[in-house]
Order: sequence, then structure tokens, then C-alpha cells
Amino acid sequence: MATASAEKTDREYAYSQDDFERVRATVFKIAGIRLADSKETMVYSRLSRRLRALGIKSFRDYLEKVERDDIEQQEFVNALTTNLTSFFREVHHFVALEKFLRTHKNVTAIWCAASSTGEEPYSIAMTLAQVFGTFRTGIKIYASDIDSKVLATAKNGIYKYSSIEKMDESLQKQFFYRGTGPKSGMVRVVDEVREMVEFRQINLLHDDYGFKEKMDVIFCRNVMIYFDKPTQYKVLNNLVGNMKQDSLYIAGHSEHFQEATHLLKPVGKTIYAPVR
Ligand SMILES: C[S@@+](CC[C@H](N)C(=O)[O-])C[C@H]1O[C@@H](n2cnc3c(N)ncnc32)[C@H](O)[C@@H]1O
Repeated sequence: MATASAEKTDREYAYSQDDFERVRATVFKIAGIRLADSKETMVYSRLSRRLRALGIKSFRDYLEKVERDDIEQQEFVNALTTNLTSFFREVHHFVALEKFLRTHKNVTAIWCAASSTGEEPYSIAMTLAQVFGTFRTGIKIYASDIDSKVLATAKNGIYKYSSIEKMDESLQKQFFYRGTGPKSGMVRVVDEVREMVEFRQINLLHDDYGFKEKMDVIFCRNVMIYFDKPTQYKVLNNLVGNMKQDSLYIAGHSEHFQEATHLLKPVGKTIYAPVR
């Protein structure tokens, strides 16, 4: 069991096992995120920043605020998501995307469904620009996340140079502006690539994602791992309902769907196609 306890007097705020359980239940209800027992300290450290910012003295009072205040509920979710990502992460998926684009002439829409700070959808946009030799490809790229803070970062498209230093120099020159003076050490995704991506806030738990069109490719990587099996199944079902007949579902490196073989069939390394 977790060790959250009011007896831990070295902590700035009272934080009991009940508080931790309430955090877990709340984030599960809102976002489907399952927090393991081992996350008790992480929860304390991330949420105590919110208590400090708000001048609230106990977790109990804070959690009451979260329940009745939508704005704080968003901050609460933002504080508890894990947003690790990178440009061209799992590069074989971008090779598969390129192949798909070269062999499918009627592609109209691609959705990056847990896009975090934007590196993933911009990598998709860069792949399209390379395949078509233009930024005006006629293909919509949607990118979404539940976390409003990462979406703001994504829309800005500003990153540390270190996040692209391993990328080919020709790609760096084509797709990024280098910061100078006080902004040296930073890069910004070029306007043409940023304009290729439409960001939206979408909670994957919701039944209706609000798209009028079906997707040719869905990237849904490294988010299912935070959900339990019934939630994974519900979300997967919903995502597949948003896919065209001949389309690709691209999953994270540790995401497998053996229990959903009636929905998806493997067609590559963590790449799936809908079963119709
Ligand atoms: C580890 S990041 C993955 C980023 C990117 N897909 C990648 O693989 O590099 C997981 C993302 O899922 C988002 N997320 C968590 N629960 C979500 C939900 N219920 N709906 C939408 N996004 C969610 C988090 O905010 C976070 O940005």
C-alpha cells in the first residue's frame, strides 16, 4: 500500500491516505488516468504547487475546490498528466506514415490524439512536407490533448535546441528558426509547419470527439498505458469509429491490443488497421 500519511510531519501540507485516494478517484473519473500506489509522492509534490499558488492550507480543502471549480479542475489534470514526448519519437512510425502516403492517394485527415507539447504532430507535418515537397498538402492534421498547458506550448512551437540537435541539419534548417541573442538555445517550428496543424482540446474519455470527417491515420501513442483495460477498450472502440476503412492506427511501443482483435489487426510494429 501507499504510505501517504498525515503523520509525515516533514511535509508542508497535511496529506493523508484518504487525500491520495481522493486524488486517484478524481483523476480517474475525469481523465481515465490510473495512478499507481507508487505515485503518492509525485502527487504530493505536483499538487502542493497548486496549494501554494492558491494559498490553500490542506489537501482536503484543495480537493473540495477541485470538485466545484472547473478552472482548478483543469489545473489539477494538467498537474497530474505525464507529457514526455520528442520529435520523430519511434522513427519507424514516420517511415510507415511516409509509405502509407505514397501508396494512398486519397488521404484527407490525420489525427494525433495525445499530442502533448506538439513534437509529435509537427513531426507528422514535417513528414508530409517532405513527401509532397510542399507545405500545402491538402491533408488536415488534427492534434489534441486533455492538458490545456501542453496545448499552449504546442501552439507556440518553441523548443530547446537540444530537442532537435540530433535531427539532420537539412531538416533543422528547413523546419526551424534558430533563436538569437537572449533566445539563442531555442528554436521555433516554422510558420508553414505550425499552420499545417490544428490543435484542439479533446478528452479521449468523451463519447463524441467532434470530428465531421473520418481519419486516414490516427497516432495514439503512449496514452493508453495510463488507462485501465475497460477504459482502453472504450477509447479504442471510439477511436476506431473515427477511422476510415483503409487506415492506420499507430500505437506506442508498449501498447498492444490482443483483447481487441475484432477491432484492430496488426500490420506492422505497433501499427494496426481496423477490422471491418
Ligand atoms: C506521455 S504523453 C504522449 C505524447 C505523445 N503521444 C508521444 O507518444 O510522444 C501522454 C499524453 O496523453 C495525454 N492524456 C492523458 N489522458 C488523456 C485523456 N483522457 N484524453 C486526452 N489526452 C490525455 C496527456 O496529457 C499527455 O500529454
